[in-house]
Amino acid sequence: MVTKTATWAYRDRFHESFGRTYFRRFSDGLVSSIGLGTYLGDPTDAVDERYHESIVTALESGVNVVDTAINYRCQRSERVVGEAVRDADVDRDAVLVATKGGFVPFDGERPANPGQYVQSEYVDSGIADPDDLVRGSHCIAPDYIDDQLDRSLDNLGLDHVDLYYVHNPETQLADRSREAVYDQLEATFERLERRADEGDIQHYGVATWECFRVPPEHDSYLSLAEIVGRARSAAKTVGNAATHFRAVQLPFNVHMADAFTVEGQSSADGAVSTLALAHQADLDVFTSASILQGDLTAELPEDVGAKLSGDSTVQKAINFARSAPGVTSSLVGMSRPEHVEENVAAGTFDPMGADAFDATFE
Ligand SMILES: NC(=O)c1ccc[n+]([C@@H]2O[C@H](COP(=O)([O-])OP(=O)(O)OC[C@H]3O[C@@H](n4cnc5c(N)ncnc54)[C@H](OP(=O)(O)O)[C@@H]3O)[C@@H](O)[C@H]2O)c1
Repeated sequence: MVTKTATWAYRDRFHESFGRTYFRRFSDGLVSSIGLGTYLGDPTDAVDERYHESIVTALESGVNVVDTAINYRCQRSERVVGEAVRDADVDRDAVLVATKGGFVPFDGERPANPGQYVQSEYVDSGIADPDDLVRGSHCIAPDYIDDQLDRSLDNLGLDHVDLYYVHNPETQLADRSREAVYDQLEATFERLERRADEGDIQHYGVATWECFRVPPEHDSYLSLAEIVGRARSAAKTVGNAATHFRAVQLPFNVHMADAFTVEGQSSADGAVSTLALAHQADLDVFTSASILQGDLTAELPEDVGAKLSGDSTVQKAINFARSAPGVTSSLVGMSRPEHVEENVAAGTFDPMGADAFDATFE
């Protein structure tokens, strides 16, 4: 478990190298506001080796958030994350390991016939009902997510996952109504509440791509308030005093700031942005694609870049994402130790205050 004692000790080891609010509250512990992501890269041994070195370097230089998913790089990312967490000179309880389930994963490499693989591994075996599979590759039904969590624990070789996300639930909207997606999420949340009681996960949440960045009339829209309500109902059904639903992941960067600018979520105060609603609901927000999948390493809009701190463009881009109000940690995919070094150094600069962040939109 990512504990208060271990994360504070981790913070004490590293905080002097960093700027203001580099470490931020997560539950009763502290996490770094820059996290390491493991999405991109080919499913090869060479990329595994690079990730291993990068993750160990990051953990040993002040990054205690590592994000993965069972489908990333055909399950190789989860496997290398587990190995690196074990190999690094850090306390396991000081590291927030997050993973996700939803997209059907391949095993080690892309099979010659993906459809046949999904059929035999998941459909014929009874793990996934064909009616729950969208585009033959996405499923968030309770039994399926249960199976995926077991496989993730196995891949990671860890006895629990600190934060487990249901991956891109809006994908299901291609085949079913919004109400049916909320119902299925609630059923799956019940399962996750039980897995939390059993100690297999500490917290859970939803990792998303589009649903929290678009207005309510958009086909991919989901209501965060409804999802939080469903998590609370799930906790009640299984007899938990409070829900273990704790976090949201969404893309956020200089060119994708919709979670701050689009007031598409409903709250008691009327329509608000997703970041504002997440803050009101006491949820942690983790940003993905924080440097636009590498595109922000070369250039930022001149007016925004001028207002950001950092020695390089990529550091400024990271500092934009982690300055947004309500963001706990900005994930940056980095499979090269030299990128880790440059990106972690973004944290030596203070993030922008709320007024300065607002001013970047003027
Ligand atoms: N829907 C979802 O749930 C979702 C979607 C997307 C991402 N995510 C999560 O969020 C994480 C971050 O997003 P992302 O990886 O898609 O995009 P990203 O962090 O915006 O960009 C990652 C890319 O930038 C490159 N890079 C990193 N630091 C660099 C530097 N200093 N100089 C030059 N290039 C650099 C990386 O290359 P190297 O690998 O060569 O270092 C990689 O190709 C993911 O890894 C994943 O964990 C979640």
